Amino acid sequence: MQTTLIILKPDAIQRGLIGRIISRFEDKGLIVIGAKFMRVTRELAEEHYAEHKGKGFYGDLVNFITSTPVLVMAIHGKEAVAVCRKLIGKTVGYEADPGTIRGDFGSSKSFNLIHGSDSESSAERELNLFFQEAELCPYDRVIAQWVVDTSSGEAE
Ligand code: RTP
Ligand code: MG
Repeated sequence: MQTTLIILKPDAIQRGLIGRIISRFEDKGLIVIGAKFMRVTRELAEEHYAEHKGKGFYGDLVNFITSTPVLVMAIHGKEAVAVCRKLIGKTVGYEADPGTIRGDFGSSKSFNLIHGSDSESSAERELNLFFQEAELCPYDRVIAQWVVDTSSGEAE
């Protein structure tokens, strides 16, 4: 089981898509174990997007993510990192496949609604950037045994 960092970006908040986007993850069987509505500081944005420093879109990206509040979440479940990236879809809204979050709600390259960690190591780094340990609240749900088969002792 993995935990990944998801950010509902300013355009998702402004467009009132919080509920519908969270439902995509819940419908899949993933659970929210941490959530914070916050304004991202420039310092935090620059650290989060450090890999893109020097690229043409970096300045606009930092301006965008700091422009209005965002919802940051820790989402947990089987193969959560890759599953969330698949649910999110390709980077550019008008290229993303229908059925994905960006494919269904997005029509822009830079206003692409949502961020998801792209690897387990990115998830660990980004979760540490946005959450204190005590702000994450892992928990068990009765329904979990019907979402992922654990009858063998492994999550299959
Ligand atoms: P994210 O990190 O936000 O989950 O998105 P991603 O992995 O699909 O895309 P990435 O390559 O990491 O790019 C980070 C964000 O930068 C913006 N972007 N703008 N104007 C452009 O050419 C351009 N390219 C990327 C997008 O907001 C993208 O999500
Ligand atoms: Mg990325």
